[in-house]
Amino acid sequence: MALRGRKDDVPVEADAAGEPAPSLIRILHGPNLNLLGERDPEHYGSETLAEIEHLAMQRGEVLGLATEFFHTNHEGELVEAVQAAGRQAQGIIINPGALTHYSRALADAIDAVDIPVVEVHLSNIHARDEWRRTSVTAPCVTAIIAGFRQMGYVFAIDAMSGFLNEFAAA
Ligand code: DQA
Repeated sequence: MALRGRKDDVPVEADAAGEPAPSLIRILHGPNLNLLGERDPEHYGSETLAEIEHLAMQRGEVLGLATEFFHTNHEGELVEAVQAAGRQAQGIIINPGALTHYSRALADAIDAVDIPVVEVHLSNIHARDEWRRTSVTAPCVTAIIAGFRQMGYVFAIDAMSGFLNEFAAA
């Protein structure tokens, strides 16, 4: 799986100074999100996916979280990315795109992971077409953020930091 963000050669367990590695958040994007910047700016804003990833990465740095990014237009690849993140990361932020509305395979994959999952939508899916108002993944995630455009990813990083601190304190 080709991941962007943290370099593969950075050890997961500890950095050079022996400090524990920061928690790793995988940010997964589903179908058509590679078209951001040109696709339906009224709903999705004018930022590209790369610009949104940069924002999320910067927010992660501020909060001491490492971020990695993955985009696919294919349902099975997104399922595999969720499974892999469940083994390798401490949190998942996912925008499943249209798979949100019908992919029970993706919902099952999310349900099977044991780490916090935040679902993000750039647009307010409840204020659009009828078919977008149902999220089959929603019952399986920890929290949902919708309608804040690119800022939703920043808020999702904040939320993830909160969840991880809460778990650490428990
Ligand atoms: C989306 C909303 C979905 O309905 C749509 O299919 C997308 C993007 C959003 O970010 O608002 O691809 O997930």
